[in-house]
Amino acid sequence: MKDIHLGSGLLKNCGDIIGAAHKPCRAAIVTDYTVGAIYVTTVADSLKAAGFEPLIFAFEAGEQSKNFETYEKIVNFLADSEITRSDIAVASGGGVVGDLTGFAAATYMRGIDYVQLPTTLLSMVDSSVGGKTGIDLEAGKNLCGAFRKPLCVISDTDTLDTLEDKYFGDGLAEIIKYAMLGNEKIMELLSERIASDNMRDALKPVMDELVAESVKTKLSFVEEDFLDNGRRKYLNFGHTIGHAVEHASRYAVHHGAAVAIGMCAMARAGEKLGYTEAGTAAALEELVRACALPTDTIISPDDLENSALSDKKRRGSEIDLIFPTKPGHCELVTLPVSDLHNILCLGVK
Ligand code: NAD
Ligand code: GLY
Repeated sequence: MKDIHLGSGLLKNCGDIIGAAHKPCRAAIVTDYTVGAIYVTTVADSLKAAGFEPLIFAFEAGEQSKNFETYEKIVNFLADSEITRSDIAVASGGGVVGDLTGFAAATYMRGIDYVQLPTTLLSMVDSSVGGKTGIDLEAGKNLCGAFRKPLCVISDTDTLDTLEDKYFGDGLAEIIKYAMLGNEKIMELLSERIASDNMRDALKPVMDELVAESVKTKLSFVEEDFLDNGRRKYLNFGHTIGHAVEHASRYAVHHGAAVAIGMCAMARAGEKLGYTEAGTAAALEELVRACALPTDTIISPDDLENSALSDKKRRGSEIDLIFPTKPGHCELVTLPVSDLHNILCLGVK
């Protein structure tokens, strides 16, 4: 985790941290209007103090911006700013900013270095780490992208103080995923607080530990299989149905909430199909509800199937799906795509 910096108050020192990884140069900061209004001055000032020349590009916040149009604007901004291959891009924001900036950095001039400064819980525990970058297409989520690792990741946990509850919850969904994949410490930290009125407040004293454990778990899958051909696929637990829920709801359901629905649906379907121990779905649903996340969707299996068929996990006539076998353990099962409809009918109430 040497390139991943985590702690309170790091943003005001981001210039020095980046300076240890890259010599001073032009630094194209990409952010959204919401994050930019709160944090871009701190980032730009810190870069300037460390000898970098900051330039700023901002776009409308939200998943609706994770498309070709914004990508095109970012790469044109890099070109107009005369960014060269010895310069860097800096993603300051959540997963949408990170995925767009990473994809622009992976493709502009066939690749320039970039840095992730995640400001949401989801981007700290998941999207900033692991080098998946990309944009959504009309046909589906994340269908166009590239693998490119950031030079470094700087997670200033103080930035979570300004994050709205609904976005904080999205991060908790990915954290629950790591617990279901086998991180016992995370399962313990969440389970101890399952009865609390406000999970966010209850987790505050252990937030740095929770983020660090999450990153550790994510890296344990990514380092073995950067290009997502094997073990990394376990990180897609809940994502096939989750991406379908996002796409079919036209992104009204956020990524994390959709993943929570997807995980619960796979547990319910898994119990009925014999992959999952009885009681797993109920235990998972309890955890999901405690984090104020949804466990199900009103979108029909037919509509979800249409969205799921364009999923990246599909390989021709087969699809790789992750079923929980019990809390803290999951298995990858390759099934004919034709089974998906039945799984959706069994998983979505
Ligand atoms: P997001 O980037 O849309 O951010 C959520 C909202 O919070 C936005 O409105 C943003 O402006 C606001 N915000 C961000 N930081 C803030 C702060 N500190 N204070 C106040 N407001 C703040 O959403 P997200 O949940 O961070 O990321 C979701 C995206 O991440 C999805 O597109 C998903 O596909 C992607 N993702 C990518 C990977 C990967 O490996 N690349 C993994 C998981 C998710
Ligand atoms: N979020 C899935 C992955 O990074 O592989």
